[in-house]
Amino acid sequence: MSDRLDWESRAGKPLQGSLRVPGDKSVSHRSLMLGALAEGRSHVRGFLEGEDTRATAAVLAQLGVRIETPADGERVIHGVGLHGLRGTKQTLDCGNTGTGMRLLAGLLAGQTFDSTLIGDESLSKRPMRRVTEPLAQMGAEIDTRDGLPPLQVRGGQALRGIRYTLPVASAQVKSALLLAGLYAEGETEVIEPHPTRDYTERMLAAFGWPITFAPGSARLSGGHALRATDVDVPADFSSAAFFMVAACIVPGSELRLLSVGLNPRRTGLLHALRLMGADIRVENEHESGGEPVGDLIVRHAPLHGIELPEALVPDMIDELPVLFIAAAVAAGPTVIRGAAELRVKESDRIATMAAGMRAVGVAIEETPDGALIQGGTLNGGTVVSHGDHRIAMSFAVAGLLAQGVIRINDCANVATSFPGFLELANGCGFALAQAG
Ligand code: S3P
Repeated sequence: MSDRLDWESRAGKPLQGSLRVPGDKSVSHRSLMLGALAEGRSHVRGFLEGEDTRATAAVLAQLGVRIETPADGERVIHGVGLHGLRGTKQTLDCGNTGTGMRLLAGLLAGQTFDSTLIGDESLSKRPMRRVTEPLAQMGAEIDTRDGLPPLQVRGGQALRGIRYTLPVASAQVKSALLLAGLYAEGETEVIEPHPTRDYTERMLAAFGWPITFAPGSARLSGGHALRATDVDVPADFSSAAFFMVAACIVPGSELRLLSVGLNPRRTGLLHALRLMGADIRVENEHESGGEPVGDLIVRHAPLHGIELPEALVPDMIDELPVLFIAAAVAAGPTVIRGAAELRVKESDRIATMAAGMRAVGVAIEETPDGALIQGGTLNGGTVVSHGDHRIAMSFAVAGLLAQGVIRINDCANVATSFPGFLELANGCGFALAQAG
C-alpha cells in the first residue's frame, strides 16, 4: 500500500472546460495479458499509468515478458506466445488489484510451472473461491488461505473446458475462465445471468482467437494462437464518473469529458443520472479499437431521487459510490438494491459509504444489498476511505457542495486507478488539497 495521504475538499467554482481522464483500467490490464501471450509485438496507447495496471505489468515481466515504456501511457509488449511464459520462484505481487489477481489466476492455471500470487492488505481480504472453484472444475489446482489470497497455482495440470453459469455477475470470473480456456482441451462456455463487461471477449477476437459471444454468454476452444495487435485504450468511464456527477451537482457547471469509453456494459451511471434529471449529451461518437467512444457534455441540472433499476447495477458496479453522492444532494429519497457485490470490493463499499455519509450529515439507511438515501444538504466532517480509491474520489466530489470542509483520510490508493486526479480536478474548478 502507498504512503498515508489525506485530502480536504471544499466548495470550489462551477466546473468548466474539457478534460480527458486516464485510460481504462479493465482494457489496460487485458492488453498486457493478451499482448504477453501473443506472437509478436503489440503497441498499447492510452495505457493507464496506475498502480494496479503497473502491478500486472510487473508480474508479466517476472514471467519473462519484455514490456517497454516508450512514453507515458504507452507500452510495447514483446509477446512470448501462448506457451512462452517462464516460471519464477518469486511471489507475484498484484498489489491492490482484484482484476489482476483473478485474471492471472486463470492465465497461470494453464501453465507448466507453479506460481504464487499475493496482494496487499485489502486484496488479501477479497474472495477468491469465485475463481478457484470453477477453475478447479476445469482441472486447475489452486490453493488459497480459506478462500483468500495468496493463491498457490500448481502448474502442469491438463485443463478441460466446462460450461459454467456465473452465480454472481463478475467480468473478472468470466475472464479468468476464458483465459484458462485458451489452454483447455475442448470448449469453455460461460453463461451470465446478468451480462458484464465484455472486454476480454472483444480483445480475444481482435487478437485473432476464435470466440463466440453475445450479452450473457461467451464460448471458445483451446488450441489456437494469439496474434500481436495494437490497442487504443479509451478514457475510463469509471474515472469520468466523478466529473460527471460533479458537473451535474454544482450550479453553473459545464464540462466536456473527451473520448470516454462507452461500452454499454459500463454506462449504467449515464442512464441512472438521466433518470434523476441530469443533462448529459454524448457527442462525437465513434469506434476506437473496437470499442464505442464519445465525448460527454455534462451540464448542471437539479437532480431528484430515484428507485435505481436493479438491471442497471452490473453496468455501474464501480460507479455506485459516486451515485450515493448524487443521491445525497438530490431532492427526495433514492433506493439502491441488488448491489451486494459492493461489499467485496476494495472495501465494503456499502458500509464505507454509509459511515462516510453519516459523518457529513446525510440520512442513509444501509441494507444488505444497497441503501436508502435521503437527499438533502451536506455538512463538513471527516470521512475514512479505508484505502479505497473510489470512496476517496466520491467524497472529493461531495466536498463541492458541502457547507464545510470534508476531510478524507487515506487517499493514497487513488493512484491505483486515477493518477493525477487531484491536479485534473483542481484544473476544472474543484478546491481539493492535501491535508497537512
Ligand atoms: C472488472 C470487473 C469488475 C469491476 C472491476 C474491474 C474487470 O469486478 O468492479 O473494477 O476489469 O473485469 P467484478 O468482476 O468483481 O464485478
